[in-house]
Amino acid sequence: MSISVVILAAGQGTRMKSAIPKVLHSISGKPMLFHVIDAAKMLSDDITVVLYHQANRIQKEIEAQYKGISFHRQNAQEFPGTGGAMRGVHARHDKVLILNGDMPLMTADSLLSLTRGDAHINMSVLKLDDPSGYGRVIIDEDNVQEIVEEKDCTSAQKKIQSVNGGVYCVKKAILENYIPRLNNINAQAEYYLTDIIKMAVDEHKTVHPVFVEEEEFKGVNSKLDLASAEEIMQKRIRHRWMREGVSMRLPETIYIDSQAVFEGECILENGVCIQGKSRLNNAHIKAHSVIEESYIENSDVGPMGRIRPHSKIINTHIGNFVEIKKSTLSGVKAGHLAYIGDATIGEGTNLGAGVITCNYDGKSKHKTIIGKNVFVGSDTQLVAPVVIEDDVMIAAGTTVNKNIKQGELAISRAPLRTIQNFFYKFFLTETSKEDK
Ligand code: UD1
Ligand code: CA
Repeated sequence: MSISVVILAAGQGTRMKSAIPKVLHSISGKPMLFHVIDAAKMLSDDITVVLYHQANRIQKEIEAQYKGISFHRQNAQEFPGTGGAMRGVHARHDKVLILNGDMPLMTADSLLSLTRGDAHINMSVLKLDDPSGYGRVIIDEDNVQEIVEEKDCTSAQKKIQSVNGGVYCVKKAILENYIPRLNNINAQAEYYLTDIIKMAVDEHKTVHPVFVEEEEFKGVNSKLDLASAEEIMQKRIRHRWMREGVSMRLPETIYIDSQAVFEGECILENGVCIQGKSRLNNAHIKAHSVIEESYIENSDVGPMGRIRPHSKIINTHIGNFVEIKKSTLSGVKAGHLAYIGDATIGEGTNLGAGVITCNYDGKSKHKTIIGKNVFVGSDTQLVAPVVIEDDVMIAAGTTVNKNIKQGELAISRAPLRTIQNFFYKFFLTETSKEDK
């Protein structure tokens, strides 16, 4: 099937009260506009995004992620409104699906249902208990007669509960014929795309209502809408992965990025957060751990572990309060309280509690390389850049500031002194002073 898609994203999004353009606000780790583009890509090879407010910024973000998207700049000064947005848009195919950039929850399946049949126009219709804010749809038998914007409604029309979902599939010839003929004689002095419905009906064209789910076609206009949309998206993501065999304890407390991937048998405990393009393979992530854009295989992390971006954790045990950043650990144990940054650590190595890579000298970051079967005692500081070869033992409390050769023991420790009865002398003197 050949259809073109036009995504309207020129509006300002004032109600978000944000410096970030509305359509770039993120839902489950991805700008909401990208969710729309992803759905569109499943149906079409001809996608045009209409821009005006912060157009350069939005276009740049899209181009960094997608190839082959066309852009159209709306002349919003002279032709404001959704009808103005469609002026001068070129579509390659005979059917044009018009979407809103602020509807991140639409699925490709629902969009497909809008493209079926042979009506001149298919339009999305929602049945709402509270229709306020939407254009009301006047339906006669099975055909749409007109859409009346709320600001133009009579009080009787305001009671109509069938509203315009804002998504349409229109024959290209209809657009070419009617868009240039739109006027702005209405309460908002805007060019309304919705007016093509009445024009089509007047010329005996067919306009079919396609009833769609509110959950998918609700637009995001405020931060509150954004949070509700994310909740719905998260539920979908969790359900998908549970069906694929991921175990989740208290799933409602778990956050999973839309780009995260799970393989094998993974377990996520409550409060876990999986961010970015993380890939987990047979991983057990314990309660309240955060995984950011990392690869984890045959390993367990947490509770309360944090794996920061670009880490590779393989055949490894990471315990509580361990932070790993941009490091590769293979066959390692790090049970408690450690910071490992910019490091590569080999098989059989054990990191004691409180081990810290001092990877930053205030100007730049440096690497720590640790070989196989190294025993790193508790409270060791590894001052990078530093290389620890295989089969090394590092005594607790050591500050490692030079490379250690294979088989060596490294120990740096001020000699321990003891003073007999010091405690009693110290505190008795203090007390007797106070007594005076
Ligand atoms: C529009 C519909 C209304 C429908 C509602 C559904 C019109 C006239 N009204 O109203 O019937 O119930 O959507 O959500 O179409 N946009 C542009 N350029 C503009 C104005 C808007 O590209 O000049 C884009 C926006 O970025 C947005 C979409 O068009 O993605 C819808 O605009 P919005 O202002 O939200 O339309 P509504 O007034 O809500
Ligand atoms: Ca508007």
